[in-house]
Amino acid sequence: MHHAILHEERLPHAPAAQAQAVTETAAPQTLPAVGGDLLRFTTAGSVDDGKSTLIGRLLYDSKAIFEDQLEAITLASRRRGDEGVDLALLTDGLRAEREQGITIDVAYRYFATPKRKFIIADTPGHIQYTRNMVTGASTADLAIILVDAEKGVVTQSRRHAFLASLLQIPHILVAINKMDLVDYSRSVYEAIVQEFTAFASKLSIRDLTYIPISALRGDNVVHTSAAMPWYQGSSLLHHLEHVSVAGSRNLIDFRFPVQMALRPNREFRGFAGQVASGSITPGEEIAVLPSGRTSRVRSILAAGDAAEEAIQGDSIVLTLEDEIDISRGDMIVRRRNLPQAADRLECALCWLAEEPLKRERAYLLQHTTRHVQAYVSKLAYRIDVDTLHRVPATTLQLNEIGRAVISTAQPLYFDPYVINRATGSFILIDPSTNNTVAAGMIRRAAQELEEVAPQAVARPRAANVVWEESTISRERREAQHGHAGAVLWFTGLSGAGKSTVARLLEERLYARGCHTFRLDGDNVRHGLNGDLGFSAADRQENIRRVAEVARLAFDHGQIVICTFISPYQADRNLARSRLPEGRFLEIWVKCDLDVCKRRDPKGLYARAERGEIAEFTGVSAPYEPPAAPELVVETDVESPEAIVERILAELERRGLISYAAAGGAFI
Ligand code: ADX
Repeated sequence: MHHAILHEERLPHAPAAQAQAVTETAAPQTLPAVGGDLLRFTTAGSVDDGKSTLIGRLLYDSKAIFEDQLEAITLASRRRGDEGVDLALLTDGLRAEREQGITIDVAYRYFATPKRKFIIADTPGHIQYTRNMVTGASTADLAIILVDAEKGVVTQSRRHAFLASLLQIPHILVAINKMDLVDYSRSVYEAIVQEFTAFASKLSIRDLTYIPISALRGDNVVHTSAAMPWYQGSSLLHHLEHVSVAGSRNLIDFRFPVQMALRPNREFRGFAGQVASGSITPGEEIAVLPSGRTSRVRSILAAGDAAEEAIQGDSIVLTLEDEIDISRGDMIVRRRNLPQAADRLECALCWLAEEPLKRERAYLLQHTTRHVQAYVSKLAYRIDVDTLHRVPATTLQLNEIGRAVISTAQPLYFDPYVINRATGSFILIDPSTNNTVAAGMIRRAAQELEEVAPQAVARPRAANVVWEESTISRERREAQHGHAGAVLWFTGLSGAGKSTVARLLEERLYARGCHTFRLDGDNVRHGLNGDLGFSAADRQENIRRVAEVARLAFDHGQIVICTFISPYQADRNLARSRLPEGRFLEIWVKCDLDVCKRRDPKGLYARAERGEIAEFTGVSAPYEPPAAPELVVETDVESPEAIVERILAELERRGLISYAAAGGAFI
């Protein structure tokens, strides 16, 4: 039984793309400190998917509802002639009340269990789903996407998945709801999982979990359900309590947008604001943007007291060693860790207003605490969320998402959204109505936008060639080797530990007498692929060639160990397609980007962040996490030795490395 606390906090209109703007007007004093014990999540579902019921159930079953509220909804439910308690009344009731205040469009609801504190960004309204999700989502650690088991995956499910990927929400939990209405059918659940996974594989989603639930009946919400014995996973609350959040924040790059300069008397001069990312301590060298003036931090004041450190999310007052003219909208950063500056920005734009985008129009762009005039100077395309195709577009309508170039009257100091959700996002405001009309995620300083995706490599085919069959078949070689041929494909960020794990694994396989063959990204780029760079097309060609080599070695009964960043799912799929079923194992060497940056074994991240390396994975080029890897290993959690044990166990389990277990043949 959980003992929980709950209270509701109301915040003014707060497009979460600009969460730091929130504190300006109504800093919630009760906001718990950012830390591993706090999970921020948001929910997305279409009409009647049961979002309210789910939140109600979560609060109710975890005993997070105030007694008096419970009494009120019980009474209301009786009045409506319901037997039980209509949990939707809990959230809807609060919402109706809230909707009377027109300026409020997101409410943060807090609750806690003994394991963790939670903040739900609860966004009212049913129709403006894009807005709902964008609002409150850019600071979220996790998004729950509700899918109605009876209706299956619908356009809005796809839109939510796409948005979650665009917003880089680290964890996605797909709650397949109303399982009671489909007789708790495993096949219904599995069909939905399959369809959703197929779609999600085209997106960049880092962590995807499915849970079959009935919010109405409480199955698998707080308590695991006896109605679905075929489901072995955890309950939704259990997942929320245990999902890892530590790595999803940018704790490296110190960015402090100034909200206000304080000068209560002659002696004191300080700058108030909320730390958007990173951390700072007294004594550190800082630079002020846009002036470029430098100084050192003299002191940090948090809630009136001197603090030894301030980290992301802290509302503080900074004082500096030198008298520098600083005003609202300026940004204080570490002297040796500067953001980028540009007045033309390539970005993803989500249109949030009824009134469509007007290209000729000047909007007000709000970026952190700063406002500048801006135009949408180019609209490259919009995305059809059902097919993910790029569609030519001249405008964006409500809920549409496109790729655009924004021109600003003065340069913005930004980080790409992939590395910093706070300084990588902005909103567009219609200056005549003061309404938020769009939310944007900055990709990079604008270069010429490529209008189409890199095509699959089309090379001239060699004519008049046949395949020269060896008289020694793979099967014969495998019999002699005593193990199967296979390709172990290690994918992950630079510095994730792919090579470390692979080296150790190779030692262990060698010790068992296995025939192994290593292909490593850095090595093949010296020779075989020395002509290739790091554009999407070159990486594709890199992987294509390597996959062909791996295939040849596999044909010789080798265990081929490939270690490539291979950031694109499509390329990894191509490699997979060259091998028989069961012989290609995609192993995701998972490691938090911040950890990779801290390790930075080759010093490449530092260089990439200084802009010295273009298209560096994780900094200025994307990494698409594997959609359905055979194995996930986490080098920031497990030791290389433990990981290698797991891989060996998996190879055993699949009958790949013990001939006897495979019954004398590897099928
Ligand atoms: S892949 O993306 O095409 O699969 P691959 O694994 O072959 O990359 O090579 C990655 C290695 O190249 C990294 O470990 C790093 O040492 C080096 N490298 C140089 N420039 C880049 C870059 N722009 N992005 C990623 N890695 C780079």
